[in-house]
Amino acid sequence: MWNRVEQTARAVFGTFGFAEIRLPVFEQTELFARSIGGETDVVSKEMYTFSSQPGETFARIQREIELGIEDANWFRDEDLLVAPVRTLIDEVDRAIKAGEVDRTPTTQGRFERLRVQFASYRDTVAKGVSEEIILARLRVLLEALHFPVGESLTLRPEATASVVRAYIEHGMHTLPANVKLYYLGPMFRRERPQKGRYRQFYQIGAEVLGTSDAPGIDAEVIEMLMTFFARLKLKAAVLHINSIGDKNCRPAYVEKLRGELQKVREQLGPDSQRRIETNPLRVLDSKLESEQAIIEKLPRIGDHLCADCRSHYDEVKRQLTLRGIAYQENWRLVRGLDYYMRTTFEITAPGLGSQNAVCGGGRYDGLVELLGGPAATKGIGFAIGTDRLVLSLQEAGEGEVRQGLDVYLAWFGAAAQSAAIGLAKRLREAGLVVELPAVEMKFGKSLGLADRLKVRHAVILGDDELAAKVVTVKRLSDGVQQKLTEPELLHYLRAESES
Ligand code: HAM
Repeated sequence: MWNRVEQTARAVFGTFGFAEIRLPVFEQTELFARSIGGETDVVSKEMYTFSSQPGETFARIQREIELGIEDANWFRDEDLLVAPVRTLIDEVDRAIKAGEVDRTPTTQGRFERLRVQFASYRDTVAKGVSEEIILARLRVLLEALHFPVGESLTLRPEATASVVRAYIEHGMHTLPANVKLYYLGPMFRRERPQKGRYRQFYQIGAEVLGTSDAPGIDAEVIEMLMTFFARLKLKAAVLHINSIGDKNCRPAYVEKLRGELQKVREQLGPDSQRRIETNPLRVLDSKLESEQAIIEKLPRIGDHLCADCRSHYDEVKRQLTLRGIAYQENWRLVRGLDYYMRTTFEITAPGLGSQNAVCGGGRYDGLVELLGGPAATKGIGFAIGTDRLVLSLQEAGEGEVRQGLDVYLAWFGAAAQSAAIGLAKRLREAGLVVELPAVEMKFGKSLGLADRLKVRHAVILGDDELAAKVVTVKRLSDGVQQKLTEPELLHYLRAESES
């Protein structure tokens, strides 16, 4: 089932011109924190984060500096402080060049600061100024010395940030037209495991990156998704769409929403109360029964979009209709990650209880710029929760489609085993699915097993068949039995597997 889902994704996405990208399972924590947003649930409480050990050399130099500090006169002494700090700077420089410390704007900024503070400290000492001034300079230098050599890494909670990182790192903006990529693989979020919600789960996702943000791209991405679900016969999948505006119109709406939420603060639960300050949009996501009537009366983003966002959204809807795609508008669909703007969408499927979103996605035009790439780059994409999709298909009875065994090759006697090994090889080369028992079994037991495996045909090879240079074929559905030569057998099985 998992195979069929993933193969179908590859096939369908391929026809839309998407290519696969293989991404690392962990990245620097900072990448996720910056792109997904520090206040989101994912970053604030769901990430599996660990730190890689600082290198030996760093640890030794930092120890030396600490030892030097214990000496009363250390701050004037070349050997005790200046030399080790210089070595540390050289080492950081080397590590950055060697890729041991990642070359991010943060690490580069810190390194620059360290260099400037060191030069300024040395100047001060050389001028023979007062001890107080030296000490003040020194304090600043010591701050800068706390260079983060042990990187903080995180198991990826999602993959959009990684795709964007790779896009920037490999200069994909120079490629002609929009870049269309898809990925499959495990993601990790610290969750309380329950049906449809796991700590390690799988996603199939796709992203379009480039200079165009034409609404036709949004609609085609959604069309690809719906084609994929239709191909899998996922029934009753519902597409929900919304526009959450952009940096021109959303801030004013968020303030208005915050104002209205303040007025009803006392009637809200603790989570929503907290979100009034941190992220009022997320209140709209609340599933709490007691909050529903209140939320329905809140101002809606659709009434506050700027002219550009409004026409983008209208055009997305028109383009969906052009493609014959049905949708439901849902003004409360704000999504839980900070990088989104304008189009957001989710697809729900039956049989999943409260975790009924099988797919979420949207537009994220500012993300490439935020992560240090060209400002003009736009992006849109989605990720399907593969576990949930498989669950929903199974509940709908679509999980049974399994490629059955064509042949159970029952052999009796040492000579027959040797012939059976050769025959199995040739049948498999012809593309047939063959089960060859590894040990000899009694006739009744062997055929009984073939029955239980729901094989279409039992092919029997014993001394009699060997002598006559034929095999006995039994169709298990009706028990029809015949003796055939090998070429006849192949011809017969091929015809049967096509019927
Ligand atoms: P997301 O909504 O966080 O979006 O996740 C997408 C889908 O992954 C969800 O709709 C759900 O089916 C599945 N999922 C999420 N968490 C879990 C979990 N703990 N257990 C099982 N399934 C889960 C993203 O991840 C974005 N990166 C999507 C995207 C791509 N937006 C633009 N491009």
